[in-house]
Amino acid sequence: MNETSTNKRPLILKAENVHKSYRMGATRVKVLKGANLSVREGEFVAVIGASGSGKSTFLHILGALDRPNEGDVSFDGHYFSRMGARELNHFRNEMVGFVFQFYHLLDELNVLENVYLPAMVSCGVAGWLGTRGAAKARARELLETMGLQDRIRHKPYQLSGGERQRVAIGRALMNKPRLLLADEPTGNLDSATGNGILEVFEQLNRAGQTIVMVTHDERVAHRAGRVITLADGRVKS
Ligand SMILES: Nc1ncnc2c1ncn2[C@@H]1O[C@H](COP(=O)(O)OP(=O)(O)OP(=O)(O)O)[C@@H](O)[C@H]1O
Ligand SMILES: [Mg+2]
Repeated sequence: MNETSTNKRPLILKAENVHKSYRMGATRVKVLKGANLSVREGEFVAVIGASGSGKSTFLHILGALDRPNEGDVSFDGHYFSRMGARELNHFRNEMVGFVFQFYHLLDELNVLENVYLPAMVSCGVAGWLGTRGAAKARARELLETMGLQDRIRHKPYQLSGGERQRVAIGRALMNKPRLLLADEPTGNLDSATGNGILEVFEQLNRAGQTIVMVTHDERVAHRAGRVITLADGRVKS
């Protein structure tokens, strides 16, 4: 979406003064040194930066998969640092969807099962009996929109890279997340296949999906509505 249509929308995600360092033996590597980012509902933001600049680290912190050493992230005005374990799990499972470079699908499960897994996780064993019909129907529908209706009984290892990534996107969307976070979603694909994945993201964004996507490829980044650069541990716009 373009800037004029999104700059009046409410903020959905805000990272404030995020610091992160890793201890490697006796030394401390400072990766993030006061990174700030505000994302409005409906935006498609690309994060670029050199290898090792902290893009994945930042994305993991934005999705509450990792904690900053200093600073905080808020979602809808709720700060992660003030959330308990249950609230954080709820956020990770219901509010945000993740897409990774190497798909992270479960090879023991077929395509359909991989996609509806997040619904199973969110309702627990007892709740699953009541909701599995609707969940399977949604998973089928998502796979259909990705053009994978003829692959639902395949195992991930029986799919091409582009097909696997579309399954991973389906899984990320299963619980209708408010925010989609993607880390190099095209990084393992040839350019034509990667292009197909970017078209899926563009289509989702046109339908209102908020997306933050990490990439090291500027051509990929320019498909997003806004590009920010991570350098020296900070966000330079
Ligand atoms: N768990 C960890 N322990 C120690 N150092 C880490 C850890 N995770 C990341 N780092 C270091 O932090 C820096 C940033 O890593 P990060 O993975 O965020 O970079 P990136 O921008 O995603 O790079 P790439 O484009 O190669 O994926 C790197 O120098 C890396 O070695
Ligand atoms: Mg990375």
